[in-house]
Amino acid sequence: MSENQPRIRPARPADAPAMAHVHIATWRSDYRGFAPDDYLAALSITDEQRFYEDIIGGPETMAFVAEDCAPRVVGLSTCGPYRDEGALLDGEYSAELYNLYVAADARTSGVGRELVRAAARGLASRGVRSMMLWTFDGYASNSFYPRLGGRIVGRRQAMIGNKRVHDLAFGWDDTLTSLL
Ligand SMILES: CC(C)(COP(=O)(O)OP(=O)(O)OC[C@H]1O[C@@H](n2cnc3c(N)ncnc32)[C@H](O)[C@@H]1OP(=O)(O)O)[C@@H](O)C(=O)NCCC(=O)NCCS
Repeated sequence: MSENQPRIRPARPADAPAMAHVHIATWRSDYRGFAPDDYLAALSITDEQRFYEDIIGGPETMAFVAEDCAPRVVGLSTCGPYRDEGALLDGEYSAELYNLYVAADARTSGVGRELVRAAARGLASRGVRSMMLWTFDGYASNSFYPRLGGRIVGRRQAMIGNKRVHDLAFGWDDTLTSLL
């Protein structure tokens, strides 16, 4: 990334409102047709802000933001222990990338890659080298993950509001060799 690129840093509690904003803006612009319209309409800054405060303050979770020179938070990633023990995956993954969002006007300049790497580095610093994530099956941006060394490792069905959705899992068996 060039020196004018947003810089990646660990998130602080004061970032939670801006992270909630990026989260909701991304869901409404990118996930329409996957998540139900009423779910998207009901997304609440207050609820998402609390979610990110919990992640930032959690003993086992981590959050990172990309901040431009304004300074404005233009992207985020969060990670922590793998959450869905019921899903059958091709491999053993002890960590999960929970959220990855880059604001629409900050994309395709390497921010997403650096946010994934920040999460992987944070996990590696705790001795965790495998990582996976869930995304909507059929979502146009899913070819992003193979560009970063991820491979498809599973599928599941889940409910968002009253709609059944089909999820796809990407995984990195060893982030030190395939991502970092
Ligand atoms: C997916 C997302 C995080 C990518 O962020 P980004 O900052 O644009 O990605 P980068 O610029 O770091 O791109 C890294 C690589 O992936 C490629 N890439 C980026 N977006 C892509 C897309 N939509 N489809 C295919 N490839 C993509 C880039 O060309 C680049 O490839 P390279 O290996 O040739 O350099 C971003 O588009 C986003 O926030 N999307 C909406 C939310 C989302 O999908 N989140 C993840 C699911 S939880």
